[in-house]
Amino acid sequence: MALVTFSNPDFKDKTVYAVAGSHTETLLKLAKENKVPVNFDCQDGECGHCLVRVSSVDNKGRMGYFLTDKEQSVLKELGKLTQEQIDQLHVDDMPSEWRLACQMIVRDEDILVEY
Ligand code: FES
Repeated sequence: MALVTFSNPDFKDKTVYAVAGSHTETLLKLAKENKVPVNFDCQDGECGHCLVRVSSVDNKGRMGYFLTDKEQSVLKELGKLTQEQIDQLHVDDMPSEWRLACQMIVRDEDILVEY
């Protein structure tokens, strides 16, 4: 069970439980199920509208996560990550703080999601 807190300056923070372990439970799906107004359009990792910033809220740190080529190219286009930063994340097995909510699978970790 993961605790996911969605935060946006225009709305009240909302913390929800997520059942991690399913490979289909994306952050965007979780947001929609809980009526959190995260922006989206294509839902396929191409438009970048669902950009979020993800950080850890417990002491365990974040789990490593490999970005797909599609997500990497959108995050680069948006100016959030450089190729060097992406390469370093892979070397260090660290997750990116910038993610596309429609591409991020919820895992068993407590996170803060700024949208
Ligand atoms: Fe288009 Fe996520 S909704 S990239």
